[in-house]
Amino acid sequence: MRISFLPTHNYFLSVLQGCHHRQVDIVRLVMESALTARDRVGVQDFVLLENYNSEAAFIENLRRRFRENLVYTYIGSVLVSVNPYKELEIYSKQQMERYRGVSFYEISPHIYALSDNTYRAMRTERKDQCILISGESGAGKTEASKKILLYYAVTCPANDHMAALGDRLLQSNPVLEAFGNAKTLRNDNSSRFGKYMDVQFDFRGAPVGGHILNYLLEKSRVVHQNHGERNFHIFYQLLEGGDDDLLHRLDLDRNPQNYKYLVKGNCPRVSSISDKNNWKTVMKALSVIGFSDEEVQKLLNIIASVLHLGNTHFGEGEEGETHITTETQIRNLEKLLGVDGSALREALTHKKLTAKGEEMISPLNFEQAMSARDALAKAMYGRTFTWLVEKINQSLALKVNSKGSSVIGLLDIYGFEVLQHNSFEQFCINYCNEKLQQLFIELTLRSEQEEYETEGIAWETVKYFDNKIICDLIEEKHKGIISILDEECLRPGETCDISFLEKLEGTLGGHPHFVTHKLANGKTRRVMSREEFRLLHYAGEVNYNVNGFMDKNNDLLNRNLKEVMCQSDNQILNHCFRREEVIDQKRPEMAATQFKNSLMKLMEILMSKEPSYVRCIKPNDAKQPGRFDEVLVRHQVKYLGLMENLRVRRAGFAYRRRFEAFLQRYKPLCPDTWPNWHGKLADGVSTLVNHLGYKAEEYKLGRSKIFIRFPKTLFTTEDALELMLSLSKPCLNGSHWLSFLIVIGYLCVVIVIQSGWRGMKGRRRAKKRREAAELIRRFIKGFIYRHEEYCPENAYFLDHVRYSFLMKLSKNLPKNVLDRNWPTPPPSLVEASEHLQRLHLQNMVMKYCRRIQPEWKKQPSEIFKDQKDSYPQGVGSCFGLQTWCVSYGVSVVKYDRRGFKPRPRQLLLTNTYAVLVDRTKIKQRIDYNALRGISVSSLSDGMFVLHMPNEDNKQKGDAVLHCNHVIEVVTKLAMMASKIDHVNINPGRVSSTLTVFCLSCSTYHLILSLFSPVWRAVLSLLWLGARRESLISSGAQS
Ligand SMILES: Nc1ncnc2c1ncn2[C@@H]1O[C@H](COP(=O)(O)OP(=O)(O)O)[C@@H](O)[C@H]1O
Ligand SMILES: [Mg+2]
Repeated sequence: MRISFLPTHNYFLSVLQGCHHRQVDIVRLVMESALTARDRVGVQDFVLLENYNSEAAFIENLRRRFRENLVYTYIGSVLVSVNPYKELEIYSKQQMERYRGVSFYEISPHIYALSDNTYRAMRTERKDQCILISGESGAGKTEASKKILLYYAVTCPANDHMAALGDRLLQSNPVLEAFGNAKTLRNDNSSRFGKYMDVQFDFRGAPVGGHILNYLLEKSRVVHQNHGERNFHIFYQLLEGGDDDLLHRLDLDRNPQNYKYLVKGNCPRVSSISDKNNWKTVMKALSVIGFSDEEVQKLLNIIASVLHLGNTHFGEGEEGETHITTETQIRNLEKLLGVDGSALREALTHKKLTAKGEEMISPLNFEQAMSARDALAKAMYGRTFTWLVEKINQSLALKVNSKGSSVIGLLDIYGFEVLQHNSFEQFCINYCNEKLQQLFIELTLRSEQEEYETEGIAWETVKYFDNKIICDLIEEKHKGIISILDEECLRPGETCDISFLEKLEGTLGGHPHFVTHKLANGKTRRVMSREEFRLLHYAGEVNYNVNGFMDKNNDLLNRNLKEVMCQSDNQILNHCFRREEVIDQKRPEMAATQFKNSLMKLMEILMSKEPSYVRCIKPNDAKQPGRFDEVLVRHQVKYLGLMENLRVRRAGFAYRRRFEAFLQRYKPLCPDTWPNWHGKLADGVSTLVNHLGYKAEEYKLGRSKIFIRFPKTLFTTEDALELMLSLSKPCLNGSHWLSFLIVIGYLCVVIVIQSGWRGMKGRRRAKKRREAAELIRRFIKGFIYRHEEYCPENAYFLDHVRYSFLMKLSKNLPKNVLDRNWPTPPPSLVEASEHLQRLHLQNMVMKYCRRIQPEWKKQPSEIFKDQKDSYPQGVGSCFGLQTWCVSYGVSVVKYDRRGFKPRPRQLLLTNTYAVLVDRTKIKQRIDYNALRGISVSSLSDGMFVLHMPNEDNKQKGDAVLHCNHVIEVVTKLAMMASKIDHVNINPGRVSSTLTVFCLSCSTYHLILSLFSPVWRAVLSLLWLGARRESLISSGAQS
């Protein structure tokens, strides 16, 4: 039993948990049950291999999966892909949909999973990504890169413009393959150049642009092919697919055997390739990308010219001079390239030299003329290929300035190559692979280390082979092989490939990764020729034959040939051979140095991006489906550094997963986490693993992930889960009816509870919605009727408006008397608002007054006393009133003692005295001590009289007052002044009333004014008598 993240399980679990799988998902998952059973062959991720140090176990796992057509397996986040050499039905649009947005580990490994993951990482982390595809020739790199591109073209959001761009991106492949791929012994469609392609995405994740960088086209193939190999496809496609008119115009013959550059490998046709169909595809692709008819024509002129150049032969004269024997070819070249025939003839047989500022023409011998011709053919083809890439780049270039765009880079570059005879090309290719390996180790280790750091888990140092020593051996300045080669090419005097080898021996002898025949021990000598040097690459030993190294590095083209090309009227050649190059005496960089520099740039590009890896493996050399050659695979596993990679990945913990994913999968195994864990995820995982009995050394909890050290622990957990779920299996195979019924019964109960609960929740939600809708309706209606009288239609709205106003007002009341701001009231609250404003103002005034303390009086006295005339009045008016503690106040009418004129006054009662106030002015102060009595009549009038001693000059005599609340006032006053016994209520008779009252003169006048003139006369008499009596009695007493 092995770890597998099976949709069937997920489905079962999710049914138990009540997750809502869409109907289609359910159908899909059930249908896929057969596939998922197959998925469980071996381990889907090598990190789960128990014996992860064993190469045999690694290969066995690959083999088992390959047998089941499971061509993809992970090493952590690295995808290992084995070339199936047959069409598998796993690349359909439905499959793309299946992998969209799904986490890497939830589903069987696939190139689409990696593509999707990279894409999502780019979008969520807003960081540029790159996918590095490596593997040996024929392992499936180019196919993988095409599948990734197709995935993006199909699944990314796109408008018409973007779809057109996607088309151009895809169409660039057949064009580049036609001009840059060839049939080799290892691969019928082998890319003979390295390709790095950037796909730019805008902020919405739609593809908006692209850019291609090409590396080191194998130009030597234009003039020579090994047995069983072909030249670049385009030559054969043109001859096979081009119509008669075209071939006639190009002076070409349909038979490839007639062209020297096409017969060297003796393999004009390949069964797996249809040149005719591919020709059509290429022509269509050229027009989609945006090549004009004229450009295509010029391009084909160059291709045809290369073939004519190959058929150009030389003869040797009697005196050793060389001449051209095939005039037709020169005429064809003259016509197709628009060059001067005689100049071309001369340039092919002579060499122009500049010595001490003078130009000299020197004839070439036969061999020299042949290599000048071949050099021209290679240069023409190589530069045209570069032009082609530039042209494609123009078509893919970002047309609009897309802000926030991100990039996914795809690197499809030649894999490590070990042929029987390895030359300069293999040296460059393998150097490139050393650099990529260095980058891979660095980035993998770095990302591992970063993950440990973010999760807060201690990093354990990993031992690995650092191939920097080999990179240095090749590229180091002055001491490296490339520098030595350059030096030897530039050194004056007799230099040759052997002198280069000797120089290497002299400089690098003793280096642990460098051996030559001379330096080797006896055993190694036997397998090395004297013209070879051996490099001990990280992936294995490779012998390089130095023959041709100097020439290939020089990559020289005679200056007069360049001049002829500059004068061509073919715009492409014009673009490729610049006049400045001929004028410039400076020697261009050597080929190896150029390659080294372009690799440095590539490394910089890749380092700035987040990498993902696809490691391609070729199962057999015969390109046959179903054959797994263990020796061949072992070799690739070794030089791809897969075991190394696995060791790094397994250095600490074999398995890591986010808490939620782990808990989701294994929660049925613990009663505390089943069916749902409501606490923190980390606590849930901790509870779960404790319940499962994990030992402390077996796992660690990071910040968001659980790290499990041994696969064994995980397999045991997985087995426990399988066991638990085994109840479901009998259901499927028809046995154990009891178990079946139990499960069904359980599901039914779950479903009933769920549906009841959901129904209740649904009803609640519906009720809420209904109420909300009703409220909105009422509000809108109210708004429409808002100008009408208060009625049921607008009641809610107007109430709401009032309520809102009052609430707003309560929060925005002016804070002081000077603040005149006041929220604008709605029409229905204008009056109330005014009242409130006034009340609030009064309230503020009152509060202000209360806060004034008697001590404050001291301050003005210190400042103004005896300094300012108005001080006495000022203190009184400003502070006098406020110092009282007024307990009661009421409006009264006071009658003057003379003339009985009514005057409106305020009667204010304090603790010790009463005052009569006219607005802020105190008119009369009545000390309670001095108050002799209070008189009222027994009738229902509002009159009352406060009796004051006549002799006290400070008091102004009796106060005759009228108030509508006489009972209240008198009671209050009597209580406050403690004069309850001094309240006289005189019965109805006026005379006695007046007698007892002992009215003062003023009182008497007042009362008189209240009666008619007749009564007044009577009253006067009575009053005078009474007064006299009282005087007599008081005198007797004294
Ligand atoms: N995933 C695949 N499915 C089917 N055939 C494949 C697959 N990958 C590669 N091939 C076959 O292998 C051949 C070589 O693949 P290619 O990608 O050109 O190799 P490389 O670029 O590594 O040299 C292809 O032409 C194709 O026939
Ligand atoms: Mg390829």
